[in-house]
Amino acid sequence: MFKNFNYDMAMNILGSLTPQQFMQEYWQKKPLLIRQAIPNFKSPISPDELCLLATNDYVESRYIRHHHGNWELNYGPLGDLPDFSVPNWTILIQNLEAHYDDIAQLMQKFRFVGDVRLDDIMASVASDGGGVGPHFDSYDVFLLQAYGQRHWRISQQDDLSLKPGLPLRILDNFQPEQDYVLVPGDMLYLPPHIAHDGIAQGIGVTLSIGFRAPSLATLARGLLDTAGDHLMARIGDFSGLYSEDPLDGPVLDSHYSDPNAPATNTPAQIPQALIDTALKAVKTIEFNPALAARFLGHWLSEPSASAYFEESNSPLTIDLEEALPETGRLELHRGTRMLYTDTELFINGELAPLAPSPALKKLADQRYLNCTAELGQQLNASERQLLALWMDEAWLLYKPTPRKA
Ligand code: SIN
Ligand code: CO
Repeated sequence: MFKNFNYDMAMNILGSLTPQQFMQEYWQKKPLLIRQAIPNFKSPISPDELCLLATNDYVESRYIRHHHGNWELNYGPLGDLPDFSVPNWTILIQNLEAHYDDIAQLMQKFRFVGDVRLDDIMASVASDGGGVGPHFDSYDVFLLQAYGQRHWRISQQDDLSLKPGLPLRILDNFQPEQDYVLVPGDMLYLPPHIAHDGIAQGIGVTLSIGFRAPSLATLARGLLDTAGDHLMARIGDFSGLYSEDPLDGPVLDSHYSDPNAPATNTPAQIPQALIDTALKAVKTIEFNPALAARFLGHWLSEPSASAYFEESNSPLTIDLEEALPETGRLELHRGTRMLYTDTELFINGELAPLAPSPALKKLADQRYLNCTAELGQQLNASERQLLALWMDEAWLLYKPTPRKA
């Protein structure tokens, strides 16, 4: 267990609850207001910087403005910078963690929920009165106030019908039950389907730590696709997305045969024998935990569309095949996703060619490894080679120990 993952240790960010208590009492169940979840929190990015970011075409953003019950929605990139003296607008910027190390580190604080559930950090920057209107979300969210003040009103109402004909999902009949004004460092947790409305009081920035939960249909389809990829790979067709190193299973390399077929006078009709053969073939596929884990590992370790890997973050490249340095540390790039099961390791959508050793699992859980003589001994040559490969891709970075001033 690592220092930041002691789920029995009370956490400031959870209002002195332990992650374990939070998960039992609040997660997916009820809202929680946490005053000064991050004491004296200062937004790592200013409102002006956020607006500037939204003018880039590689950043996913939306501009929303309301005026006497009318709602305007425009997708980024923004042509002009907005004017903070004009009230009632907000700009939403997705995947902020892909662009800033500070934000990626903030996201790390929520890993007690598990990496497969964490989605992204969205920033909203708003002028006075700005917001997205009363609505509900289908996913859990932590709303961390980063700059200025925000007035949140929430309701556990059952009526979640939406106003028709608007570009945004706005509740038709919002009946607020509680309200809070959040200042920087305050945070509000909302489970899915809680009605809420946040209105900026003056210029404000809110960071939304968002989660993902795949639909059951998506899970089933992914598993079907993976089964299909493996099935084809076993007969030599490796064109499927997840076909590398296919799991053992039926090798369906024989062909449909019909030695006893009679001549037909309805040539356009699909023969029953072909239908039966197709069904018989598909019934040989076994859906087992190994197949499900393979699909989930590939799919959930796929980096976000906004992630980019460049070596500029690494002040030095080292040849890990030769020797491991005994100072500094190896860190996963902020965009790297690394997951494992008992037997397999996945990184950025790919199945690693090695089983997850304790050191590699530690790298995945902790997201860094301190370089020590001991680590040098723990890692075998193929592991060092794999780490070197990841460094070439900038999925893994070497950070020297900062010099003392
Ligand atoms: C926002 O910060 O304006 C939107 C966050 C939300 O309500 O989910
Ligand atoms: Co919301």
